[in-house]
Amino acid sequence: MSTEGQVIRCQAAVAWEPGKPLSIEEVDVAPPKAHEVRIKITATGVCHTDWAYLYETGQGMRARPYPLVLGHEGAGVVESVGPGVTTFSPGDKVIPLFLPQCGQCERCRSPKTNLCMKHWANTQMGVLADGTSRISCKGQQVYQFLGVSSFSQYTVVPDTSVTKIRDDSPLDKVCLLGCGVSTGYGAALNAGKVEPGSSCAVFGLGAVGLAAVMGCQVAGATRIIGVDINPDKFEKAKEFGATECVNPSEHSRPIQEVVVEMTAGGVDCALECVGSVTVMRAALESTREAWGTCVIVGWTETEEMSVIVHKLLMGRTLKGTYFGGWKSVESVPKLVEDYMNKKMKLDEFVTHTLPLDQINVAFDLLKSGKSIRTVVSL
Ligand code: APR
Ligand code: ZN
Ligand code: ZN
Repeated sequence: MSTEGQVIRCQAAVAWEPGKPLSIEEVDVAPPKAHEVRIKITATGVCHTDWAYLYETGQGMRARPYPLVLGHEGAGVVESVGPGVTTFSPGDKVIPLFLPQCGQCERCRSPKTNLCMKHWANTQMGVLADGTSRISCKGQQVYQFLGVSSFSQYTVVPDTSVTKIRDDSPLDKVCLLGCGVSTGYGAALNAGKVEPGSSCAVFGLGAVGLAAVMGCQVAGATRIIGVDINPDKFEKAKEFGATECVNPSEHSRPIQEVVVEMTAGGVDCALECVGSVTVMRAALESTREAWGTCVIVGWTETEEMSVIVHKLLMGRTLKGTYFGGWKSVESVPKLVEDYMNKKMKLDEFVTHTLPLDQINVAFDLLKSGKSIRTVVSL
């Protein structure tokens, strides 16, 4: 029986308030309105940012409205489309995108950025274009995280915040291209512009950092130093291309001094994939005078980092990147192609798979450093 035009009742992991575990609830997902697409989510990664919004509100993260369905690293199949949608049809395999690409705005028309601002204010507030969410629970509106909400079996997104991928894509792997892997990989390639023969340091070896390591390797870096306080991450980092790994906890002096010494002056490119302002400063100070570039990938919204200005005056560049600099709609299908053609790894990021009702376990695994990515099947 077709569900088109009907409200769909399904399961979702709802965050009722910050700081509390998610609870599995029956939610109602309304049909898509104009220029919206309703997606049956079949798999979602659990990203550090999901955890951070739930547990670090006020400690680096801005407050979001609750109740909220988190999740922004999902993949699924189009169930139905709203009026005016021409580029998607039921049955299409898709990845919803927390960063849109409308193709029309000033930023979409510029090759200099991927930061499309379509519906930006609304998605940051957890609602779609008309100022409301399509998800409700027990009659109460439930906000959509970054306009996505992949911790729900069904969700509705704007047609500029979703991209079609090839029919044979394994959704339980390519979902990771919705955030973590694309973000780290693009940070090295697009923002860091890592060059053949160069030296790099990647701070933080979670999924984002490992993807950055992979990007450095693909770009031809000859030294890739992985930095993490959890040495359990080192084996995997080496699988992804790290040539050596260092643990800041094993050194009595600041890690930047260690990296500068290891590289006789500093790395060409350092990538911060932790989201800590202390590590950001260390990453900047690990770069080489005259041309070193430090790329901030890790997420924090309200904190300030300190910079010794002289480090910048001496020719270093400090930059940030969002979603790896990829123009989302056009780039994600190409990344899927690269994975399918074995040009990039994805399977290796998935250390655990769990059903939706175990989603809090996925957070525990992430925070205890035991997982790289848990893929939750819905
Ligand atoms: N120095 C080095 N590594 C650190 C430090 C530190 N001071 N503190 C934490 N780490 C390591 C952790 O041990 C972990 O391996 O950083 C890694 C972070 O990985 P995950 O928690 O798996 O996070 P991930 O999903 O990869 O996201 C990393 O990018 O998108 C953002 O919000 C996200 O800020 C987060 C970052
Ligand atoms: Zn993420
Ligand atoms: Zn745009």
